[in-house]
Amino acid sequence: MRKPIIAGNWKMNKSYSEAKILLEEIKRFDLNKEVEAVVCPPFINLALAKELLEDTNIEVGAQNAHFETSGAFTGEVSPVFLKDLGVKYVILGHSERREYFGESDELINKKVKSMLENGLLPILCCGETLEERESGKAKDKVKVQLEADLKGLSVEDFDNVVIAYEPIWAIGTGKTASADDAEEMCAYIRSLVKALFGDEASQKVRIQYGGSVKPSNVKEIMSKENIDGALVGGASLEAESFSQLVNF
Ligand code: PGA
Repeated sequence: MRKPIIAGNWKMNKSYSEAKILLEEIKRFDLNKEVEAVVCPPFINLALAKELLEDTNIEVGAQNAHFETSGAFTGEVSPVFLKDLGVKYVILGHSERREYFGESDELINKKVKSMLENGLLPILCCGETLEERESGKAKDKVKVQLEADLKGLSVEDFDNVVIAYEPIWAIGTGKTASADDAEEMCAYIRSLVKALFGDEASQKVRIQYGGSVKPSNVKEIMSKENIDGALVGGASLEAESFSQLVNF
């Protein structure tokens, strides 16, 4: 059985003082323990999140990491540092990192492998642009990304890899992919993992949908067979809506 996973991607939101308030608020809600709840604040608030969430089941994730473990890489954060803090997940290959920071599939693949080697669980993002969807190339795009990003992984790695399907046109726009479209792509991603790594890997891997997920649509999205979770931006920035997402 794949455990559902709802992860809040805070992006570049919430200062230290604001994060403290939000985390304290989140702690006041009763969250369904059958669902894995994850908060992914900016780096500078990871230690705070670990400390404040210590007595809860809520996991902490980072939004990026370098593939090297130490050295002369000014401004970067090592997976070893994240592991040392008790961080569990690392979002990788988010479309904002691909677009604004020029992250290539080759780089993302190095990061995915490094996280796994260092005991962290990647949440690997993929997804097409509106133009690609409208021209019928959405699946081709996701295939190219995943073949490159997952290269070199073993069947065992899929106990620890989460894939997030995030159509770029649905991120932060209020436009959600229909639950059926999201399911169709997530089923395709599972079939792709099967073709590349075998049946066992495809049954184990957890696949999230992301893009304008909110309390009003989470239930329908989560009812789909191949959707095991959601990666949520905007709606994860308020304690009440985050709790409603986790308690879908
Ligand atoms: P959104 O962002 O929920 O605000 O659309 C999702 C994401 O980028 O992970």
